[in-house]
Amino acid sequence: MIAPTTAPKTDSKTDLYAVFGNPIAHSLSPRIHTAFAAATGQALRYETRLAPREGFVEAWRVFVAQGGRGANVTVPFKEDAFRLCARPENALSERARLSGAVNTLCREGERVFGDNTDGAGLLRDLEGNLAARLAGRRVLLLGAGGAARGVLPPLRARHPACLCIANRTAEKARALAAEFSTPELPLAGCGFAELPTILNEGAFDIVLNATAASLANTTPPLPPGLFAPEALAYDMMYGKGQTPFLKAAAEIGAKTLSDGLGMLVEQAAESFLLWRGIRPETRAILEGLRALDAG
Ligand code: ATR
Repeated sequence: MIAPTTAPKTDSKTDLYAVFGNPIAHSLSPRIHTAFAAATGQALRYETRLAPREGFVEAWRVFVAQGGRGANVTVPFKEDAFRLCARPENALSERARLSGAVNTLCREGERVFGDNTDGAGLLRDLEGNLAARLAGRRVLLLGAGGAARGVLPPLRARHPACLCIANRTAEKARALAAEFSTPELPLAGCGFAELPTILNEGAFDIVLNATAASLANTTPPLPPGLFAPEALAYDMMYGKGQTPFLKAAAEIGAKTLSDGLGMLVEQAAESFLLWRGIRPETRAILEGLRALDAG
Protein backbone atom coordinates (compact mmCIF):
# COMPACT_ATOMS: atom_id res chain seq x y z
CA MET A 1 0.00 0.00 0.00
CA ILE A 2 1.55 3.27 -1.12
CA ALA A 3 1.05 6.43 0.90
CA PRO A 4 -0.31 9.52 -0.88
CA THR A 5 2.20 11.95 -2.41
CA THR A 6 0.93 14.84 -0.32
CA ALA A 7 2.75 15.27 2.98
CA PRO A 8 0.85 13.94 5.99
CA LYS A 9 -0.53 16.40 8.52
CA THR A 10 2.40 17.32 10.74
CA ASP A 11 3.29 19.73 13.46
CA SER A 12 6.35 21.99 13.44
CA LYS A 13 8.35 19.37 15.38
CA THR A 14 8.09 16.84 12.52
CA ASP A 15 11.54 16.30 11.01
CA LEU A 16 12.00 17.80 7.56
CA TYR A 17 13.76 15.99 4.66
CA ALA A 18 13.90 16.72 0.93
CA VAL A 19 15.35 15.70 -2.41
CA PHE A 20 17.34 18.31 -4.34
CA GLY A 21 17.56 18.18 -8.12
CA ASN A 22 16.93 19.98 -11.38
CA PRO A 23 14.50 18.89 -12.74
CA ILE A 24 12.78 17.41 -9.69
CA ALA A 25 8.99 17.77 -10.05
CA HIS A 26 8.41 14.13 -11.05
CA SER A 27 10.65 12.59 -8.39
CA LEU A 28 9.19 9.54 -6.67
CA SER A 29 11.35 10.07 -3.57
CA PRO A 30 8.65 11.93 -1.54
CA ARG A 31 6.24 9.05 -2.19
CA ILE A 32 8.85 6.43 -1.27
CA HIS A 33 10.03 8.12 1.94
CA THR A 34 6.47 8.94 3.03
CA ALA A 35 5.64 5.24 2.60
CA PHE A 36 8.79 4.23 4.55
CA ALA A 37 7.83 6.66 7.36
CA ALA A 38 4.30 5.25 7.54
CA ALA A 39 5.58 1.66 7.54
CA THR A 40 8.14 2.30 10.30
CA GLY A 41 6.08 4.73 12.40
CA GLN A 42 8.48 7.64 11.90
CA ALA A 43 7.17 11.23 11.97
CA LEU A 44 8.76 13.05 9.07
CA ARG A 45 7.98 15.33 6.17
CA TYR A 46 9.73 14.88 2.81
CA GLU A 47 9.61 17.47 0.01
CA THR A 48 11.13 18.17 -3.40
CA ARG A 49 13.48 21.15 -3.71
CA LEU A 50 14.24 22.55 -7.15
CA ALA A 51 17.65 24.25 -6.99
CA PRO A 52 19.08 26.45 -9.77
CA ARG A 53 21.88 24.63 -11.62
CA GLU A 54 24.50 26.92 -10.07
CA GLY A 55 22.68 27.28 -6.76
CA PHE A 56 22.86 23.99 -4.89
CA VAL A 57 24.81 25.18 -1.83
CA GLU A 58 22.56 28.20 -1.35
CA ALA A 59 19.45 26.00 -1.66
CA TRP A 60 20.88 23.64 1.00
CA ARG A 61 21.56 26.63 3.31
CA VAL A 62 17.98 27.81 2.99
CA PHE A 63 16.77 24.28 3.76
CA VAL A 64 18.99 24.07 6.86
CA ALA A 65 17.71 27.46 8.06
CA GLN A 66 14.19 26.01 7.78
CA GLY A 67 15.21 23.15 10.06
CA GLY A 68 15.96 20.54 7.36
CA ARG A 69 17.51 17.39 8.86
CA GLY A 70 18.67 15.53 5.79
CA ALA A 71 18.32 15.26 2.04
CA ASN A 72 18.75 13.17 -1.04
CA VAL A 73 20.63 14.71 -3.93
CA THR A 74 20.04 13.86 -7.57
CA VAL A 75 20.99 15.10 -11.06
CA PRO A 76 22.96 17.35 -11.46
CA PHE A 77 24.08 18.06 -7.88
CA LYS A 78 25.85 14.92 -6.63
CA GLU A 79 29.30 16.33 -7.23
CA ASP A 80 28.32 19.73 -5.74
CA ALA A 81 27.10 17.87 -2.64
CA PHE A 82 30.41 16.02 -2.50
CA ARG A 83 32.37 19.28 -2.59
CA LEU A 84 30.18 20.71 0.19
CA CYS A 85 30.87 17.69 2.42
CA ALA A 86 34.59 17.66 1.55
CA ARG A 87 35.04 21.03 3.27
CA PRO A 88 37.08 20.67 6.48
CA GLU A 89 34.14 21.54 8.75
CA ASN A 90 32.00 18.75 7.25
CA ALA A 91 32.45 14.98 6.79
CA LEU A 92 32.14 12.19 4.22
CA SER A 93 31.52 8.46 4.48
CA GLU A 94 34.19 6.18 3.06
CA ARG A 95 31.95 5.12 0.16
CA ALA A 96 31.13 8.75 -0.69
CA ARG A 97 34.82 9.67 -0.54
CA LEU A 98 35.68 6.74 -2.80
CA SER A 99 33.07 7.64 -5.38
CA GLY A 100 33.50 11.43 -5.36
CA ALA A 101 29.71 11.87 -5.35
CA VAL A 102 27.12 12.34 -2.59
CA ASN A 103 23.43 11.40 -2.84
CA THR A 104 22.55 11.58 0.88
CA LEU A 105 23.10 14.49 3.25
CA CYS A 106 22.64 14.26 6.97
CA ARG A 107 22.79 17.32 9.19
CA GLU A 108 24.65 16.96 12.46
CA GLY A 109 24.23 20.31 14.23
CA GLU A 110 26.21 22.83 12.21
CA ARG A 111 28.01 20.13 10.22
CA VAL A 112 26.83 18.11 7.27
CA PHE A 113 27.71 14.48 6.68
CA GLY A 114 27.66 13.18 3.10
CA ASP A 115 27.09 9.56 2.11
CA ASN A 116 26.49 7.75 -1.16
CA THR A 117 23.86 5.02 -1.10
CA ASP A 118 23.58 4.64 -4.89
CA GLY A 119 26.09 1.80 -5.15
CA ALA A 120 24.51 -0.16 -2.30
CA GLY A 121 21.06 0.45 -3.82
CA LEU A 122 22.18 -0.72 -7.26
CA LEU A 123 23.80 -3.88 -5.88
CA ARG A 124 20.76 -4.72 -3.75
CA ASP A 125 18.55 -4.41 -6.81
CA LEU A 126 20.89 -6.27 -9.18
CA GLU A 127 21.79 -9.09 -6.79
CA GLY A 128 18.79 -9.24 -4.45
CA ASN A 129 15.83 -8.35 -6.69
CA LEU A 130 17.16 -9.42 -10.11
CA ALA A 131 19.49 -12.27 -9.06
CA ALA A 132 22.20 -10.91 -11.39
CA ARG A 133 25.83 -11.98 -10.86
CA LEU A 134 28.64 -9.50 -11.49
CA ALA A 135 31.75 -11.59 -10.79
CA GLY A 136 33.43 -12.69 -14.00
CA ARG A 137 30.97 -10.78 -16.23
CA ARG A 138 31.70 -8.12 -18.83
CA VAL A 139 30.15 -4.87 -17.54
CA LEU A 140 29.68 -1.59 -19.44
CA LEU A 141 28.78 1.65 -17.67
CA LEU A 142 27.37 4.44 -19.88
CA GLY A 143 28.01 7.94 -18.48
CA ALA A 144 30.76 9.62 -16.50
CA GLY A 145 28.92 12.04 -14.17
CA GLY A 146 28.06 11.79 -10.50
CA ALA A 147 25.71 8.84 -10.98
CA ALA A 148 28.46 6.81 -12.67
CA ARG A 149 31.05 7.73 -10.03
CA GLY A 150 28.74 6.61 -7.23
CA VAL A 151 28.44 3.04 -8.50
CA LEU A 152 32.00 2.44 -9.75
CA PRO A 153 33.58 1.42 -6.41
CA PRO A 154 30.93 -1.19 -5.52
CA LEU A 155 30.87 -2.54 -9.08
CA ARG A 156 34.65 -2.86 -9.05
CA ALA A 157 34.50 -4.64 -5.68
CA ARG A 158 32.39 -7.43 -7.24
CA HIS A 159 35.30 -8.46 -9.53
CA PRO A 160 33.75 -8.26 -12.99
CA ALA A 161 35.90 -9.72 -15.80
CA CYS A 162 35.95 -6.27 -17.38
CA LEU A 163 34.54 -2.87 -16.46
CA CYS A 164 34.34 -0.33 -19.27
CA ILE A 165 33.05 3.27 -19.16
CA ALA A 166 31.68 4.94 -22.29
CA ASN A 167 30.55 8.57 -22.34
CA ARG A 168 29.42 11.28 -24.79
CA THR A 169 32.51 13.27 -23.75
CA ALA A 170 35.26 10.67 -24.21
CA GLU A 171 37.86 12.49 -22.07
CA LYS A 172 35.60 12.29 -19.01
CA ALA A 173 35.24 8.53 -19.47
CA ARG A 174 39.01 8.12 -19.85
CA ALA A 175 39.69 10.26 -16.77
CA LEU A 176 37.19 8.27 -14.70
CA ALA A 177 38.60 4.95 -15.92
CA ALA A 178 42.12 6.05 -14.96
CA GLU A 179 40.93 7.21 -11.53
CA PHE A 180 39.15 3.95 -10.70
CA SER A 181 41.58 1.47 -12.27
CA THR A 182 43.42 -0.94 -9.99
CA PRO A 183 46.28 -3.31 -10.88
CA GLU A 184 43.78 -6.22 -10.66
CA LEU A 185 41.11 -4.49 -12.71
CA PRO A 186 42.29 -1.88 -15.22
CA LEU A 187 39.20 0.02 -16.44
CA ALA A 188 38.74 1.09 -20.06
CA GLY A 189 37.25 4.51 -20.88
CA CYS A 190 36.02 5.65 -24.30
CA GLY A 191 33.58 7.77 -26.28
CA PHE A 192 30.41 6.20 -27.68
CA ALA A 193 31.97 6.19 -31.16
CA GLU A 194 34.72 3.84 -29.95
CA LEU A 195 32.32 1.20 -28.62
CA PRO A 196 32.36 -0.91 -31.82
CA THR A 197 36.15 -1.24 -31.44
CA ILE A 198 35.83 -2.26 -27.77
CA LEU A 199 33.31 -4.90 -28.86
CA ASN A 200 36.12 -6.72 -30.71
CA GLU A 201 37.10 -7.98 -27.25
CA GLY A 202 33.60 -9.35 -26.63
CA ALA A 203 30.00 -8.31 -26.08
CA PHE A 204 28.76 -7.16 -22.66
CA ASP A 205 26.76 -9.20 -20.14
CA ILE A 206 25.52 -6.17 -18.21
CA VAL A 207 25.07 -2.64 -19.61
CA LEU A 208 24.14 0.08 -17.10
CA ASN A 209 22.90 3.45 -18.29
CA ALA A 210 24.12 6.13 -15.85
CA THR A 211 23.74 9.02 -18.29
CA ALA A 212 21.09 11.72 -17.91
CA ALA A 213 20.02 11.09 -21.54
CA SER A 214 16.64 9.67 -20.48
CA LEU A 215 15.78 13.03 -18.91
CA ALA A 216 16.00 14.48 -22.44
CA ASN A 217 13.99 11.49 -23.71
CA THR A 218 16.94 10.17 -25.67
CA THR A 219 19.54 7.41 -25.38
CA PRO A 220 23.26 7.00 -25.89
CA PRO A 221 23.82 5.29 -29.28
CA LEU A 222 23.97 1.50 -28.84
CA PRO A 223 25.92 -0.38 -31.53
CA PRO A 224 24.69 -3.75 -32.83
CA GLY A 225 26.38 -6.66 -31.07
CA LEU A 226 26.63 -4.75 -27.78
CA PHE A 227 24.78 -7.41 -25.79
CA ALA A 228 25.97 -10.95 -25.13
CA PRO A 229 23.31 -13.68 -25.09
CA GLU A 230 21.34 -13.47 -21.80
CA ALA A 231 22.54 -9.88 -21.30
CA LEU A 232 20.91 -7.42 -18.91
CA ALA A 233 20.23 -3.78 -19.85
CA TYR A 234 19.67 -1.62 -16.76
CA ASP A 235 18.62 2.03 -16.78
CA MET A 236 19.72 3.73 -13.56
CA MET A 237 17.63 6.78 -14.47
CA TYR A 238 14.11 5.63 -13.68
CA GLY A 239 11.27 7.06 -15.77
CA LYS A 240 7.65 6.02 -16.07
CA GLY A 241 7.27 3.55 -18.90
CA GLN A 242 10.11 2.13 -20.96
CA THR A 243 12.99 4.57 -21.37
CA PRO A 244 14.57 5.26 -24.80
CA PHE A 245 17.66 3.35 -23.60
CA LEU A 246 15.65 0.23 -22.73
CA LYS A 247 13.74 0.41 -26.03
CA ALA A 248 16.99 0.64 -27.99
CA ALA A 249 18.51 -2.18 -25.90
CA ALA A 250 15.53 -4.45 -26.63
CA GLU A 251 15.84 -3.72 -30.35
CA ILE A 252 19.44 -4.92 -30.45
CA GLY A 253 18.90 -8.06 -28.41
CA ALA A 254 19.19 -7.41 -24.67
CA LYS A 255 17.51 -10.39 -23.01
CA THR A 256 16.48 -8.75 -19.73
CA LEU A 257 15.45 -5.12 -19.34
CA SER A 258 15.31 -3.36 -15.99
CA ASP A 259 14.38 0.21 -15.18
CA GLY A 260 15.96 1.87 -12.15
CA LEU A 261 12.90 1.68 -9.91
CA GLY A 262 14.40 -1.04 -7.73
CA MET A 263 17.62 0.94 -7.32
CA LEU A 264 15.63 4.07 -6.49
CA VAL A 265 13.74 2.29 -3.72
CA GLU A 266 16.83 0.45 -2.40
CA GLN A 267 19.06 3.56 -2.27
CA ALA A 268 16.21 5.39 -0.54
CA ALA A 269 16.02 2.63 2.08
CA GLU A 270 19.77 3.04 2.74
CA SER A 271 19.32 6.81 3.13
CA PHE A 272 16.37 6.26 5.48
CA LEU A 273 18.50 3.91 7.58
CA LEU A 274 21.18 6.58 7.87
CA TRP A 275 18.72 9.28 8.91
CA ARG A 276 16.39 7.29 11.16
CA GLY A 277 18.42 4.27 12.30
CA ILE A 278 15.83 1.86 10.94
CA ARG A 279 15.84 -0.05 7.65
CA PRO A 280 12.43 -0.10 5.98
CA GLU A 281 11.16 -3.15 4.07
CA THR A 282 11.34 -2.42 0.35
CA ARG A 283 9.40 -5.23 -1.32
CA ALA A 284 5.83 -4.01 -0.70
CA ILE A 285 6.71 -0.44 -1.64
CA LEU A 286 8.43 -1.56 -4.83
CA GLU A 287 5.42 -3.71 -5.76
CA GLY A 288 3.05 -0.82 -5.03
CA LEU A 289 5.02 1.54 -7.26
CA ARG A 290 5.17 -1.07 -10.03
CA ALA A 291 1.39 -1.44 -9.88
CA LEU A 292 1.02 2.36 -10.20
CA ASP A 293 3.49 2.34 -13.11
CA ALA A 294 1.47 -0.31 -14.89
CA GLY A 295 -1.79 1.61 -14.27
P1 ATR B 1 24.84 12.95 -12.63
O1 ATR B 1 25.51 13.60 -11.47
O2 ATR B 1 23.46 12.50 -12.31
O3 ATR B 1 25.62 11.85 -13.28
P2 ATR B 1 25.88 14.85 -14.47
O4 ATR B 1 27.10 14.98 -13.65
O5 ATR B 1 25.25 16.08 -15.08
O6 ATR B 1 24.69 14.14 -13.69
O7 ATR B 1 26.23 13.77 -15.63
C1 ATR B 1 25.34 13.49 -16.64
C2 ATR B 1 25.89 12.35 -17.50
O8 ATR B 1 24.94 12.09 -18.53
C3 ATR B 1 27.19 12.67 -18.21
O9 ATR B 1 27.89 11.46 -18.42
C4 ATR B 1 26.70 13.24 -19.53
O10 ATR B 1 27.62 13.17 -20.59
P3 ATR B 1 28.74 14.33 -20.78
O11 ATR B 1 29.80 14.03 -19.75
O12 ATR B 1 29.20 14.19 -22.17
O13 ATR B 1 28.04 15.64 -20.49
C5 ATR B 1 25.55 12.31 -19.80
N1 ATR B 1 24.52 12.87 -20.69
C6 ATR B 1 23.69 13.90 -20.42
N2 ATR B 1 22.84 14.09 -21.45
C7 ATR B 1 23.16 13.16 -22.40
C8 ATR B 1 22.63 12.84 -23.69
N3 ATR B 1 21.63 13.53 -24.22
N4 ATR B 1 23.20 11.80 -24.37
C9 ATR B 1 24.22 11.10 -23.82
N5 ATR B 1 24.76 11.36 -22.61
C10 ATR B 1 24.23 12.38 -21.91
